[in-house]
Amino acid sequence: MTGLIPTGAPHAAELSDAQLERRLQARRKWLGDAAFEYDLPLEPVRGDGVYLFDGAGHRYLDMHSNAPSMGHGHPEVVSAIAAQAATLNTHSGHLSNTVEAYAARLLGLFPAPLRNLVMTCSGSEANDLALRVARMVTGRKGVIVTSRACHGSTAATAEISPGLRQPVPAHVRTIPAPDPRLAGKAELSSWFAARVREEADMLQKTGAGLAALILDSVFSFEGVFTDPPGFLAQAVEAARGAGGMFIADEVQAGFGRTGAMWGFSRHGVVPDMVTLGKPMGNGYPVGGVVMQADHLARLNASAPYFSGCGGSPVAAAAATAVLDVIEREHLLRNAGRSGDALRKGLRRLAKSSPRIGDVRGAGLCFGVDLAVPGSGAPDPEAARGVVNALRRNFVLAGRAAPRGHTLLLRPPLSISTEQAEQFLEVFGRVLGMLG
Ligand SMILES: Cc1ncc(COP(=O)(O)O)c(C=O)c1O
Repeated sequence: MTGLIPTGAPHAAELSDAQLERRLQARRKWLGDAAFEYDLPLEPVRGDGVYLFDGAGHRYLDMHSNAPSMGHGHPEVVSAIAAQAATLNTHSGHLSNTVEAYAARLLGLFPAPLRNLVMTCSGSEANDLALRVARMVTGRKGVIVTSRACHGSTAATAEISPGLRQPVPAHVRTIPAPDPRLAGKAELSSWFAARVREEADMLQKTGAGLAALILDSVFSFEGVFTDPPGFLAQAVEAARGAGGMFIADEVQAGFGRTGAMWGFSRHGVVPDMVTLGKPMGNGYPVGGVVMQADHLARLNASAPYFSGCGGSPVAAAAATAVLDVIEREHLLRNAGRSGDALRKGLRRLAKSSPRIGDVRGAGLCFGVDLAVPGSGAPDPEAARGVVNALRRNFVLAGRAAPRGHTLLLRPPLSISTEQAEQFLEVFGRVLGMLG
């Protein structure tokens, strides 16, 4: 195909600045103008565990990927996908032992009454379906989300993703992220629940009513808010009190990110539905909605859900291998252990650098605020500078929060304490360069 990069062409790391610019122009011509994470876009050519490699053989410590949570190119997941693809892959309309065994095993990891699973191709599709179920069960349309949340890219989920689309429609009401600094002197859980009640009242007045409160269990796009454990419980009560359902979006938090299998369990709540994605197949496209049997029965009786490739045998094989790896490699324990090492190191750095405003997180999911020394004001430019400097020093991190002043760290759950120290050493150096 003319204009695109032919197979065997040099990779980005091997190009001069002018050649890279020509490559970017060619890409824009075909794929449009996408925003890249770093000023100097990265082209990884291989992944192995916590590392990515570029075409010149440089090794990057990946502190940012949230899909390959078991590690890049995990051999067990790769061979499960390859073996199943070589044996059989069909649409999801046939019987399949692989799919049925996976469903039974996954559902054993959820509390009652969450006893049914619908598999999808992505987190977006899962949230889209969960919205459909919530509206069907409650007979209402309104949704409450946090003000910079991102729950997906389908038409319905873009409407509940103010982090992607502003403004949201009238039947979608936003509340601030559960940031203890916004709550001020109030207790976080009651402050957050009061916001839910206010917006549920508004939805009642407009006639839409509340169908669902949907929350990312770790609030990753808003800068990561995980503490104190239990703070979500009152908000969930408030939503139910207004007749709505609580959907826990575990596309980020699920499968061990917080050191527990599910982020919602940190808050002692049982959601009405749970949505799953990215890490579920270690990056292989698979997602799902976990729900109550009577809700699925009602869905099937009215407008059944069918996703051709969602819940295919290959998707189920990838997802089964993920559960195997979590168990065999004790990844929940490792997320706790390496997460503690990271937290301690980040707090140490925060004490010595006025550039760090706050460190938050649980397990292996961290938000680190960059602040203006002295005033402590959010400093998105510093965060941007840090992320780009880390990239030049072969460490990959991302940014979050409304103003982009928060470093988002979500390494593979297999990261060792030594690799965590390796990150801290480079981060400390980069902060030192900022002065
Ligand atoms: C919390 C959350 N929910 C849903 C999604 C959408 O998932 P997907 O990209 O698999 O469609 C995302 C994507 O980043 C997400 O972070």
